[in-house]
This record gives sequence, structure tokens and C-alpha cells, in this order.
Amino acid sequence: MRELAGKTAFVTGGASGIGFALGRALAEAGMKVMLADIEVDALVAAAKSLDNFGQQVRGTICDVADLTSVERAAEACYEAFGKVHLVCNNAGVGAGSGIDHISLDNWRWVLDVNVMGVLHGIHTFLPHIRSHGEGGHVVNTASMTGMLSARQFSPYAASKFAVVAMSEGLATQLEPLGIGVTVVCPGFVRTRIAECERNRPKRYGRAQTPEQATRAGVLALEIAERVQSGLDPSNVAARVLNAIRENELYVFTHPEMHDAVKTRFAAIVAAMDKAAAR
Ligand SMILES: NC(=O)c1ccc[n+]([C@@H]2O[C@H](COP(=O)([O-])OP(=O)(O)OC[C@H]3O[C@@H](n4cnc5c(N)ncnc54)[C@H](O)[C@@H]3O)[C@@H](O)[C@H]2O)c1
Repeated sequence: MRELAGKTAFVTGGASGIGFALGRALAEAGMKVMLADIEVDALVAAAKSLDNFGQQVRGTICDVADLTSVERAAEACYEAFGKVHLVCNNAGVGAGSGIDHISLDNWRWVLDVNVMGVLHGIHTFLPHIRSHGEGGHVVNTASMTGMLSARQFSPYAASKFAVVAMSEGLATQLEPLGIGVTVVCPGFVRTRIAECERNRPKRYGRAQTPEQATRAGVLALEIAERVQSGLDPSNVAARVLNAIRENELYVFTHPEMHDAVKTRFAAIVAAMDKAAAR
């Protein structure tokens, strides 16, 4: 989508971090922007901080894990701005610990937000974008954890591998229709992701065994430190805008992780070679 000015973007997780930086960068590029988020106070503050764009930026409450909530937010966006061209399925949460130590509630929460949330955005907006025929673009925020699974991040890694796979599939499907797809795979970025429990709905519970709580606490501290020294979200947003204009599928922002990806793929290729040799 080479021309952004005058078109409309819907950004989930738009009240904070990467989503907010994306919202601001898209508004600066002349787009009308609907920030959609589950956190009411942060959403109000985010929209207010962009009030120099006037009516061009608005906010709507949205829980991406809930299809009805996404559909309602989409209606609010159509009502405010008319046609939507760009959907950024960006909202995400993490819950740590190894695969055998993590509660099913944690798995459900992370998969509902990070995987179903992305699917709900696609399911809701794609028929609309197809039908208006003006072209469009879908941006899905995954992570480097969607390229490299890490022992301590089982649900998060599973969710982000899923987002990469969904995006690759969607890109092939939408190419003939002139609708682009970008999957964003950052390493650590300076946002509030380490505090994501703040937005955990009650339906996913909070109960943890003391052992789980200790492991989760240690991990949370580790992540918080790495996030704090991470990339500024505005850098990620700038890369995403470029990818939308150039219709690029992958956005990587942490080239220092190149060797780790290469090692993973080398192991896969070696195993395939072994199969071929048998
Ligand atoms: N920060 C990093 O290091 C990093 C690295 C790679 C990928 N990511 C991904 O970037 C995306 C944005 O996260 P961030 O780092 O900006 O964190 P953040 O916590 O600063 O922002 C996430 C936003 O999502 C919102 N949100 C949470 N649950 C929601 C729900 N159910 N419905 C709607 N909104 C919801 C939050 O309120 C928040 O505003 C996520 O998908 C995350 O997994 C982050």
C-alpha cells in the first residue's frame, strides 16, 4: 500500500508500546487512526496525547480475545472514518515458565489474545477490505520468539509461531487481491509488555502454585530488565511503515539474532538431509 495519507488504520494494543508508536507514525503519515485497546485509562491517555491530530485519531475499547468486542470496535471505526484499509493486529501478552510448570489458564489467556486476537482481526476486517476493493494491508505483530522458541516462553512462543504461520499463509492467499501482509518479529522493545498481567481478565484466573509464582517472578524480572534496555518502539513503527509501503512480508528489527535463526534452520535442514539419506 504505497499511499497511506487519507486512508484508515485500525491498531489493536494501540494504547501502549509498539501499538501506540504505530498509531502515532501512521497519523504522522496522514492516516486516520483508530486505537483499539482493552485498557481504558491508557487508551484515553494515548488518544489525548495525540490530540494534535484532531479528529484524525480516536480510541475504542476492544478485547481482541472476544470476537463480538472486535466486531463492535470495527463498527465504531467504520462509523468514525468510513472504509478501513490497514489492520494492525498488534495486541499481545506473555506468560512465562516452562511447558510443564505453566497453568492451563496462562496458556488459554496467551493463546486467546495472541492467536485468536489476530484471527479475530482478520476475520472481522478482511471481508470489508476485500469488498471495498481499494486494496489494503494486514500487519500482524509476532516476535523473534516466533522464529526461535525459548524454553521459558512456551505459550508465548507457540502463539508467535502461530502468528508467523498465519501471516505467511495469508500473504499467499491475498497477493492476487492486492492486499499485502506484514509480520513483525522484534526482539526486546522498550514497552510495558513485562507488566501485561495488568490487563489479564478475571476469567483466566490468577492462581499459581508457590513454585509457579517463584519461577514466573524470576522470569518476569529477567524480561523486565531486557525490555527496559530494548529498542525504542518508534524504530519498530518506522520499519513497519516502510514494509507496508514496500509490501514486505517480514520485518526484523534485531539483526543480532541472525546467527540463532541460522542455527535453528541448519538443524532442521540437517534433519531433512538425514531423512533423504535413509
Ligand atoms: N516489547 C517487546 O519486547 C516485544 C518483542 C516482540 C514482540 N512484542 C509484541 O508486541 C506487541 C505489542 O506489545 P508491547 O510490547 O507494545 O506491549 P505493551 O504492553 O506496551 O502494549 C500491549 C498493548 O496491548 C493491550 N492489550 C492487552 N491485552 C489486550 C486485549 N485482550 N485486547 C486488546 N488489547 C490488549 C494492552 O493494554 C497494551 O496497550 C505484542 O504482540 C507483543 O507480543 C513485544
